[in-house]
Amino acid sequence: MNDANDKTHLVDRITGHRRMRRNRKADWTRRLVRENRLTVDDLIWPVFVIPGDNIEEPIPAMPGVSRMSVDRLAEAARKAEALGIPAIATFPNIALEKRDMNGSEVLNPDNLINRATRAVKKAAPGVGVITDVALDPFTSHGHDGILIGDEIVNDATVDHICEAAVLQAEAGADIIAPSEMMDGRIGAIRERLDAAGFQNVGIMSYATKFSSGFYGPYREAIATKGLLKGDKASYYVDTANGTEALRDAALDVEEGADMLMVKPGLPYLDICWRMKEAFGLPVFAYQVSGEYAMIRMAAERGAIDGERVMMETLLSFKRAGCDGILTYFAMDVAEKLAKS
Ligand code: PBG
Repeated sequence: MNDANDKTHLVDRITGHRRMRRNRKADWTRRLVRENRLTVDDLIWPVFVIPGDNIEEPIPAMPGVSRMSVDRLAEAARKAEALGIPAIATFPNIALEKRDMNGSEVLNPDNLINRATRAVKKAAPGVGVITDVALDPFTSHGHDGILIGDEIVNDATVDHICEAAVLQAEAGADIIAPSEMMDGRIGAIRERLDAAGFQNVGIMSYATKFSSGFYGPYREAIATKGLLKGDKASYYVDTANGTEALRDAALDVEEGADMLMVKPGLPYLDICWRMKEAFGLPVFAYQVSGEYAMIRMAAERGAIDGERVMMETLLSFKRAGCDGILTYFAMDVAEKLAKS
């Protein structure tokens, strides 16, 4: 057969001409079609603060992360600012003798978290400070709210954290990030901040905080591990529930949240995506302590390339629609990005 019109020999029988690999063939094509990028602007650095001076104390469950005294934190904040990290989120390890049933130390205007804020704002004014008002670092039982009998009481807790939010704003916090998942807290905090003249202080809602096993190392870092009675299932979202998480976030949006957070991160990328689609507000993922520890420890044991997996997980958050990530890797990533 020598029919000049026969073009069958031109048909690529295996792929039908459809070859995805053309765009993957070289570094330049891959760069050209790359859809998402991680930059230093995506990073929020969570840090642990301890009382005292000139202390940097490694946290065994989180290799590479240390608790820092306020002076050391101020230094670190300056470094973060120089690297271009937009914001840090502070978590205090409060002296055990200052913890009580109601977490009353949170209402001390000069407590550790407020001192940390003042020091950071002074040392690195270009870095945003995000503070949490949850009571868990301050309570003798490790719960995020006020415990009466065996109930974490909602409205009394909200009242308490609203006062804490105003004190944190007075200390210079730029964004209040309430993580205790009480109902009605976003609206209540907004009202109290506004009444106190802090209209420009934002609220990043821990919109969906799941009742997760991934918080273990954090609880070691702020020494609530041995204290916690029971679990947090009566206020955090059940890990099985996506629709409920969206409903919870919707209420926070109505109440005036400026930004939303999903926590933990990687196991909940579906929630990140749904939340971004649903509300169009900035969405942040918190790559929590357990996620961090898994990567670091697996890398230490030689099972994975830690740096590569760090970058891959962070990029996944971007692909899932996140505007940024709270990550204990923030400084490592910023340094890496600065070099490349
Ligand atoms: C509690 C709080 C938690 C984290 C930050 N604030 C969770 C918890 O202990 O229940 C977890 C952060 C992490 O694991 O990195 N308000």
